[in-house]
Amino acid sequence: MSWNSKGQSRLRRRFHKQVDRAAQDYVASLRFDRRLYRYDIEGSIAHAKMLAKQGLISEDEASLIVSGLVAIKEEIERGEFNFRAECEDIHMSIEERLFEKIGDAAGKLHTARSRNDQIAVDMRLFVKEAVGDTIERIRKLQRAIVGLAENNKTAIMPGYTHLQQAQPVMFAHHLLAYFEMLERDVMRFSDCLKRVDVLPLGSGALAGVAYPVDREFLARELGFSQISHNSIDAVSDRDFVIEYEAAAAITMMHLSRLAEEIVLWSSQEFGFIEIDEAYVTGSSIMPQKRNPDVVELARGKTGRVYGSLVAILTVMKGLPLAYNRDMQEDKEGLFDTVDTLISTLEVLCGLLSTMKINAVRMRESMSGYILATDLADYLTKKKLPFREAYEIVAELIKYAADRGKDLHALSLAEYRRFSRLFDEDVYAITLDTSVNARNVVGGTAVEQVSAALARARKILEAHHGK
Ligand code: ARG
Repeated sequence: MSWNSKGQSRLRRRFHKQVDRAAQDYVASLRFDRRLYRYDIEGSIAHAKMLAKQGLISEDEASLIVSGLVAIKEEIERGEFNFRAECEDIHMSIEERLFEKIGDAAGKLHTARSRNDQIAVDMRLFVKEAVGDTIERIRKLQRAIVGLAENNKTAIMPGYTHLQQAQPVMFAHHLLAYFEMLERDVMRFSDCLKRVDVLPLGSGALAGVAYPVDREFLARELGFSQISHNSIDAVSDRDFVIEYEAAAAITMMHLSRLAEEIVLWSSQEFGFIEIDEAYVTGSSIMPQKRNPDVVELARGKTGRVYGSLVAILTVMKGLPLAYNRDMQEDKEGLFDTVDTLISTLEVLCGLLSTMKINAVRMRESMSGYILATDLADYLTKKKLPFREAYEIVAELIKYAADRGKDLHALSLAEYRRFSRLFDEDVYAITLDTSVNARNVVGGTAVEQVSAALARARKILEAHHGK
């Protein structure tokens, strides 16, 4: 009954011509927006209940509609639903099927509603759930990071600036930097949720609806904490998609930096870590290879997430109010971003939970020169102005390097050639004293790192199951 004698869909009956095939395929979104079926049905069920409550349709009609929609949901989930290309989008597919199932009562569902507020509500429901899933995954990765840090509490590694050895740091301290980044990511997603959590339904095509609808009821039914306050904005706003994608882009940037470090650390030259076999791939030609493809792809996939963000920003920038079909382009990028981010978080979590640390190698990779700042600090503590101390140590290092010597290999006499302030206790400066000297909140001293680990644990416990 949904197709008339000319085989035209419900939306085309008033036209004389058949739609051009290529044009039909071009505007159709069913291929990807079928993913919204659950939210679309949820929104429609709430809408039908509201219409009945307001006396806009009868209770019988509402229950017919609701049971029809529930049955359709089951059909889709059993893989028995026929997604017909002519249906254009998920909304029309479900509506057409509802007509087939319950007859004319189906025609009452779209009372006081437009596809414009319908898609807006579907998308918001989708993003709300995606934010929840994303935060949960980030929390898991944070747990893996804290676990790895706790299991390697004593490891000291070279800290870098410009990828040049700078100062020694606790490996756990370095890892916890990522915990902090991810903590900010969680905050960004949680904050974005406040603006996603707004019900647009009741905005109609753009001007509101000419029926006494109960929007507060709809908000309660669908779990929205607020309702929108301008119908034009409500149907033309996709900020919430952009905000999710922006938060995702920043998170991917963080994950990409972590991935890059894992690539480096697992190289023969560094050898700081060994990625578990479950997360490496071989080469088709070089039998010795253990390639870190997983982390390389985490780094690589960051590009598509940035791409989707730029794409949706660009789609939106020139649009007059209110709804424009351009906005259909919000979906594939968003879906791809959610999938990419969640799968990246998942594989990195597994990889970090299984990788092995080579603490000996980390230590051995550091030359004594990494303690240059500590030598300068040593002189400064003996009341020399820091800039002078810096000069002296610079000379000293040049002297040692010219002779191919490490700092510990220099005699006291050699030290004293550069400053009379050097004494026997200069040999007491080690990687461990260097690390522990930085006993400031946020610093790398063992005491501080233990406190930071406890703090991280506390944050994770506070959010457990949330
Ligand atoms: N498929 C459309 C989208 O994703 C749904 C809304 C269509 N509304 C319309 N008036 N054509 O944006």
